Amino acid sequence: MSINIKIPRHVAFIMDGNGRWAKQRLLPRKMGHREGVKAMKTMIEECDKLGIEYVTFYAFSTENWARPQEEIDELFSLVKKFADNELAKYKDKGYRIRILGDVTQLPDETRDVLTEIVSSSKDNKGMQINIALNYGGRQEIVQAVNKILQSGLSQIDSDMLSDCMYTFGMPDPDIIVRSGGEKRLSNFLIWQCAYSEFIFVDEYWPDFDRKVLDSIIMEYSRRDRRYGKIARLD
Ligand code: IPE
Ligand code: IPE
Ligand code: MG
Repeated sequence: MSINIKIPRHVAFIMDGNGRWAKQRLLPRKMGHREGVKAMKTMIEECDKLGIEYVTFYAFSTENWARPQEEIDELFSLVKKFADNELAKYKDKGYRIRILGDVTQLPDETRDVLTEIVSSSKDNKGMQINIALNYGGRQEIVQAVNKILQSGLSQIDSDMLSDCMYTFGMPDPDIIVRSGGEKRLSNFLIWQCAYSEFIFVDEYWPDFDRKVLDSIIMEYSRRDRRYGKIARLD
């Protein structure tokens, strides 16, 4: 049976398994995170080639602060390096960059470079890269409700809540992919995933490449998104 390839507008990745990738090779966890950054670059470039308009990467959750300080420091230093070396280039190529999460708690130098890239890329028309940093879905909903309360409103609708999310103005993710074999969301995009297709992949994040991406697109193309309606007739 032949299938029509469907290209999603928005793919969100839960980049999991860096630590296990390293452990398997008897390497320190930080080596897994470094390889994870390379996989992120590959996925950005391959998603753009496929014509995907929005890509989102879960890089640090509100729960990840519970990790050892040394690992947290390593992660934010990698984010800063990635922003200096790669995001700056992507910005010049015309990509738009947004951060999802509460940036006020990030280390100063990481926050500053990210804030600059977000603001100077805001009018770019190319693919949009979202990086979820200090992101938690429950925290996002609570801050949205607080924003609404502060405006004095006493009743809301779902569009108003969407407009107060970090993802305002973007389409919901068509696909949420999680690498590393775990089948959970870990507090990622819990408002936006109402009709997302979930794809769980056993490969660890540093092993993600074009081949894995192609298999994700094939799997997505086979799915029938019914949105509550009955099955399509073809
Ligand atoms: C994902 O890889 C990266 C972050 C959460 C920052 P992990 O570090 O969770 O890797 P595993 O799950 O321990 O293998
Ligand atoms: C999810 O991975 C968060 C990120 C990928 C940033 P975790 O490794 O933190 O998730 P749990 O602890 O397995 O749920
Ligand atoms: Mg993990």
